[in-house]
Amino acid sequence: MSGSLGHGWDPSAYAAHASFVPALGAPVVDLLAPKAGERILDLGCGDGVLTEKLVAAGAEVVGVDADKAMVAAAKERGLDARLMDGRQLSFDGEFDAVFSNAALHWMPQPKAVAEGVFRALKPGGRYVGEFGGHGNIAAIRTALRAVLMRRGYKVDVLEMQYNPTAAEYRTMLEEQGFEVLVADIIPRPTPLPSGMSAWLNTFRAGFIDAAGVPPAERGQIIEDTRAMLRPVLADTKGDWTADYVRLRFAARKPE
Ligand code: BEZ
Repeated sequence: MSGSLGHGWDPSAYAAHASFVPALGAPVVDLLAPKAGERILDLGCGDGVLTEKLVAAGAEVVGVDADKAMVAAAKERGLDARLMDGRQLSFDGEFDAVFSNAALHWMPQPKAVAEGVFRALKPGGRYVGEFGGHGNIAAIRTALRAVLMRRGYKVDVLEMQYNPTAAEYRTMLEEQGFEVLVADIIPRPTPLPSGMSAWLNTFRAGFIDAAGVPPAERGQIIEDTRAMLRPVLADTKGDWTADYVRLRFAARKPE
């Protein structure tokens, strides 16, 4: 799934270079265990590839995402997809479950998100998801920051990712009223079939632009970052593996 805060995603680039994101979402769908007839909210549904799996299980699914192009792509699959900011969910007591894959790290203000999810659930409803946990893509982020800083760009104010530890996330959910059943950090080294430059272009172009890099310089920033990462994340054949770390959780709204 894509993120959700209007990062300006390109659905065709996402499908070409990031198809591993929904493909690796199977374990969290298993943890959700969607049942026929359930009403499920997919928070940060992106282009809807994983949302379709929930529909295929017989659930009635509403997908929300803050990116217009992704919502349009999900609608093209025939899904009920709506443009909505994860911090301002407008649902009240109508879902058996809220599901989220690879989206919550794009949503700052996690309390506002959890509050909206809690409100959206029926009593006894479950909240199941996975996103980037503490230490997620640490090498990539550090290298990109170093390259930008070396060229005089300021990066400190730009860091919008939410990557809590399992303990931090558990506490935050409990403070919103959830019973937390599972909260685990799972290191998940992830092969990048399209390589590091394509990954940086797909996922970090917005970050580079926000640092004030002129479009003509973006390619060089990406090339320098790739060169810095090569000894760490590429193997002897030149195949890349990103240092993803997931936080997988399951929680429940009390009856
Ligand atoms: C993630 O899925 O964890 C992620 C992907 C791209 C940028 C940041 C995080």
